[in-house]
Amino acid sequence: MTYAIDHIGLLVTNDVESGDGPLGVRRDVALVIDGGRVAAIEPAGVHADDGVDAGGRCVMPGFVDSHTHLVFAGDRSDEFVARMAGAPYRAGGITTTVDATRAASDDELTRLLDVRVAESRRNGITTTEIKSGYGLTVDHEARLLRVAGAATTETTFLGAHVVPAEYAGRPDDYVELVRTSMLDAVAGSCRWVDAFCEVGAFDADQCRAILTAASGRGLGTRLHANQLGHGPGVQLAVELGCASADHCTYLTDADIEALAGSSTVATFLPATDFSTRQPYPDARRVIDAGATVALATNCNPGSSYTSSMSFCIALAVRDMHMTIEEAVLAATVGGAAALRRPDLGRLSVGSRADAILLDAPSYTHLVYRPGMPLIARVWQA
Ligand code: NIG
Repeated sequence: MTYAIDHIGLLVTNDVESGDGPLGVRRDVALVIDGGRVAAIEPAGVHADDGVDAGGRCVMPGFVDSHTHLVFAGDRSDEFVARMAGAPYRAGGITTTVDATRAASDDELTRLLDVRVAESRRNGITTTEIKSGYGLTVDHEARLLRVAGAATTETTFLGAHVVPAEYAGRPDDYVELVRTSMLDAVAGSCRWVDAFCEVGAFDADQCRAILTAASGRGLGTRLHANQLGHGPGVQLAVELGCASADHCTYLTDADIEALAGSSTVATFLPATDFSTRQPYPDARRVIDAGATVALATNCNPGSSYTSSMSFCIALAVRDMHMTIEEAVLAATVGGAAALRRPDLGRLSVGSRADAILLDAPSYTHLVYRPGMPLIARVWQA
């Protein structure tokens, strides 16, 4: 049974072979879908079993959000208010969410997650990576990954988010727990393992121990790197062959060189820098050096409580000096690269039919009309 999105004024394929410019755009076409995949791109006015008329508006690939922390309970708006009055963001705030999350039942966590995933879908996100990291015991981390696994295949174990209160003063004992029993308990229910490499969280040796253990079990790795200051995170991510180094807010020339010479994707999370009043990453230098970049929302209660990828794109263009095309690519194929999912982020024949219809004639309106609800319709496969 075929389904057509017909009379598309501007179709972003992200496939330079099948269209014009860096986004491979096509004009006045129909996107024909069969079995959840793009079957054809035809001139407008096709016959299909079912479908919708785009009315000359823009259709583009769904956003691939490669970094979120969506399984949590509780509220930390007071921290945000304090930051807006001048207080700095501190990794230690994570423990507030750990307490609330441990106290919540599975049903409550599932209900909260479902609401957040639905919110992401309405914002055009068709693939969502979800991390654990607010449980920090063997049982709680396993539970958060079970809850996350009902919503996505892109699940990430983040036992090394912060040292929990019960291990205060014994960080190496906690790292040992994470890389042995905790990893044993969660290995079957996560695709990725992540760690927070930062002052106040885990140092390079601790992160290396955990991510090496993860690779030894065949799990993919990623790293929170250089979020709050300069540090070893980015170069460690490259050394370990991580799929992505996330945040990349503080980068030296050597960090940029390392990223450019690697397959590690530099994932920028500009809504975090907005919400923590930090500088934005120097995306221009990273892109000009030749590194692959992604944009993600980092939706979490502490540093970035938004699942608006459109907002991230607007920040990336306005404040990180990315072109609109670079930002759109980073939020789609960039996120797919960060998740090592070449089947996502494109609308060319054979790709998964994850698409969004904009209430606008062009993707440029995502930046030109910031804050407006431009996502008119979302299709997943
Ligand atoms: O990516 N940096 C570590 N983790 C999250 C923040 C989590 C929190 O503050 O609750 C981040 O920004």
